[in-house]
Amino acid sequence: MEAIRWKDGVLSLLDQTRLPAEERWLDYTDYREVAGAIRTMVVRGAPAIGVTAAYAMVLAAREGADRADFAAFMAGARDALAASRPTAVNLFWALDRMARCWEKAGADVLRLEQEALAIHREDVEMNRAMGAFGAAVVPPGARILTHCNAGALATGGYGTALGVIRAAHAQGKVSMVYADETRPLLQGARLTAYELAADRIPVTLICDDMAGALMAQGKVDLVVVGCDRMASNGDFANKIGTYSLAVLARHHGIPFYTALPSSTIDLSLPDGSGIPVEQRGAEEVRRFAGTATGPEGIPVWNPSFDVTPHQLLTGIITERGVLYPPFPQSLKEGPSKT
Ligand code: MRU
Repeated sequence: MEAIRWKDGVLSLLDQTRLPAEERWLDYTDYREVAGAIRTMVVRGAPAIGVTAAYAMVLAAREGADRADFAAFMAGARDALAASRPTAVNLFWALDRMARCWEKAGADVLRLEQEALAIHREDVEMNRAMGAFGAAVVPPGARILTHCNAGALATGGYGTALGVIRAAHAQGKVSMVYADETRPLLQGARLTAYELAADRIPVTLICDDMAGALMAQGKVDLVVVGCDRMASNGDFANKIGTYSLAVLARHHGIPFYTALPSSTIDLSLPDGSGIPVEQRGAEEVRRFAGTATGPEGIPVWNPSFDVTPHQLLTGIITERGVLYPPFPQSLKEGPSKT
């Protein structure tokens, strides 16, 4: 399964707002429209946003290649894309990497295209490496709980948290995946359940408020989630509801992991208090699929992410290996060799 394609200078995105009802691909040749697609969540998930933004900069370079003010044009395109969503640091990471490329190579569209393709390819490679390392912490017969969608749809391919689940399933270790539905936009129900079912990985859908009861009944062996931005001490932002799961997992003595590529780590932040948390519109909570889910005009609080303190994490699954506490040290030094 994939959500992002690049062919003959056209970016195609699988419209994730329509899944699972409809598999509709949309084509883009204008970076401004790609910024809109990120904002409206046609494409979503931290690494997928980064890969998409990289391709959008290729579109911008093609449009601006003959302009005398190429550098200023590219800086404007970068700013427009950077303003699309604030939390996932992969967006800024990819834009910075593309900027280093055009600042050096100038209006060499081919060179920029190679860089975007490399960002995409490396993301899939990192996910596969994470899957291999992460599968090792999954016990045989595991019942795994996950939140939101950190799968192939949220990345360049394969997935981070779902990459770990895919790899563990290939080793015959997974007896059940519980997918939180993930209100308000239902990425767990619409995307994770869809992705796992397509791969014939056993999955059971639950409402977000059922996770505690499931854990209390001894039906969860491990929790693994994705990440949108991790600070240098291991505090991390992920889809709203992740923090509640981490607290529940700690209370029930269940191992709690996040899986992320190095492009999701923001070493400029000492801790999670500086992570910008996106606030989304009230209508996402008051309505769903055109139907009222609350009284019209009722005040709504709709942060798209929350920040989980590193003390609640058992381990961090990366493409270099699994990191354990103390995280400020292991994030700096990498996985221990023992
Ligand atoms: O608002 P979304 O759907 O972009 O949020 C996605 C998540 O929170 C994912 O868990 C995160 O981006 C990691 S994806 C590998």
